Amino acid sequence: MAKKKNKKFINKNFIRKNFWETDLSQSEFYNTKVHKSVFTDANLRNSIFKNSEIVNTNLTHTDLRGVDFRTSKLVNVNLRDAVFNNKTLWPKNFNPIKYGAIESKNFNPFSYKRKLAYKTVKSLSLKEIDFYKNKIKKKERLSKNSEFDKKIIYELTKGKGYIIIKDFYKKDFINKAEKIINKKLKKSKNYKKATINYEVDKINKSINFFDLLNTDGIFTKMIQPKIAMSAFKKLMGENFICTYYSAQCSIAGSRGQSLHLDYPYVSYNNPGDKIPIGMGSNDFLLSCGILTYLNDSDKKNHGPILLKGSHKFRRFPTIEDVKKYKFIKVKVPKGGMLILNTLMWHAGAPNYSEKKDRHLLVAHYTPSFVKLRMNLKGTTKKNVILKDKKENGILDQLLT
Ligand SMILES: [Fe+2]
Repeated sequence: MAKKKNKKFINKNFIRKNFWETDLSQSEFYNTKVHKSVFTDANLRNSIFKNSEIVNTNLTHTDLRGVDFRTSKLVNVNLRDAVFNNKTLWPKNFNPIKYGAIESKNFNPFSYKRKLAYKTVKSLSLKEIDFYKNKIKKKERLSKNSEFDKKIIYELTKGKGYIIIKDFYKKDFINKAEKIINKKLKKSKNYKKATINYEVDKINKSINFFDLLNTDGIFTKMIQPKIAMSAFKKLMGENFICTYYSAQCSIAGSRGQSLHLDYPYVSYNNPGDKIPIGMGSNDFLLSCGILTYLNDSDKKNHGPILLKGSHKFRRFPTIEDVKKYKFIKVKVPKGGMLILNTLMWHAGAPNYSEKKDRHLLVAHYTPSFVKLRMNLKGTTKKNVILKDKKENGILDQLLT
């Protein structure tokens, strides 16, 4: 969190100012004008606003406990999920609940995103996959494939909980996929909404596309990368299925996710809840995932944060866990895949970039007896499935 703690701002004009995640606790604002600015996740605890005005500004998820706004004006502010208490003093006749704020006694602290401490892990490539880049004989490829199965199965069960295969897709192939998603994004109404105003609620900056299979044949290929499908058969049974498939676009400035696990879905996740005895404790998994990186990332604009080995805890993380553990930010280049045991704790990181959007293809797979999360078969055109069948793909199985 950027620190400006105990600051004094006098006669300042802040227009389109970014205070996202800034620690402004115990600060004082005198005769200050704040217009079209962003305070998302900022800590304003016990700050004072004297004779100031805050107009058209995003204060979502802001900590407003003990703030004194009494002599200031709040006009067209967005207070969605901002927290206040009985020591927060508002201007006369101002009702914070009307603007989306939550009283601290009704506030679920785990729903509040906390900044995760993390370090970057630089090289996690597999030497063994070099064969994919170099053209080698089919026979050798087959024997190597069983080696990969072993490696993937080991890492997802007894190992780190994930494995990275960098440069899995060739440049032209991944460029095409990226281009299609970019096009869809720029065309979407939500994108316009997400970028039209500087102070827009960050909730609009995470955009998902679910109709991939009907969009282009490239996504039929990307839902079934052979290297992973082969290992998944062994981990989740011959007839394992795909329960979730989407392109998750995190627009520049998007807020990121709370720490979570998706086992077998993201749907049950009370902090500290334990996974039932035996479930996920052996090599039979109820859910695996693949994240495919559609663009290159930089320091400000990277993919998810993970906790190595956390799939072995077999429970949902608590707030204490968030403070206790050092998470890692894995570097996966464009065209690479992160294959994971979804019992592992992870969170999509905020996109701090001012310009660069981030696109990830996310797919979740489960054994065939797990109830579907998305009706992929019902929403995919029949000819897409038939075409894949003719090409010996397993799309029909995956969507069943
Ligand atoms: Fe997730």
